[in-house]
Amino acid sequence: MLDKKKNFELIINHLKSAINKNNEKEYILYVVCKTLVDTIDYYDWVGFYLVDSDDDKMLVLGPYIGDPTDHTRIPFGKGVCGQAAEKKETIVIQDVSSENNYLSCSPVVKSEIVVPILKDGRVVGELDIDSHQKSPFTDEDSIFLNKICDFIAEQAF
Ligand code: SME
Repeated sequence: MLDKKKNFELIINHLKSAINKNNEKEYILYVVCKTLVDTIDYYDWVGFYLVDSDDDKMLVLGPYIGDPTDHTRIPFGKGVCGQAAEKKETIVIQDVSSENNYLSCSPVVKSEIVVPILKDGRVVGELDIDSHQKSPFTDEDSIFLNKICDFIAEQAF
């Protein structure tokens, strides 16, 4: 069994060989969802929210893999996704039952990490991951997912 850091390096290398600037944005985002869901067992819902082209304080659900969600539009500031967009910061919630500003998709979700995608200092979208486990995310996840979001900002935006 590979250690977590080594596995994350391999996944990043895979994404760098599978994606380039000629690919459609939707395709790039889908490949990232599929790769993460298939390779990391505690990533149970992986998806993107994108900033609405008509309202720069609104997130709209983009490509995702996992159970359908009612939260297809989320204003900045609302829920974990809205907080990450407003603060332009990665937010990790190791136990969603302890978070007041949280939008539940499913009772089986126990934890969440949201990483904003920044282009020229502006939030253009974010990567949202739910886990059915409590406290699965470490600093390594945060560093790994930030690298992926930096790569997406270069390739897709
Ligand atoms: N839990 C998120 C909503 C999005 S779903 O997880 C897909 C939130 O609190 O913003």
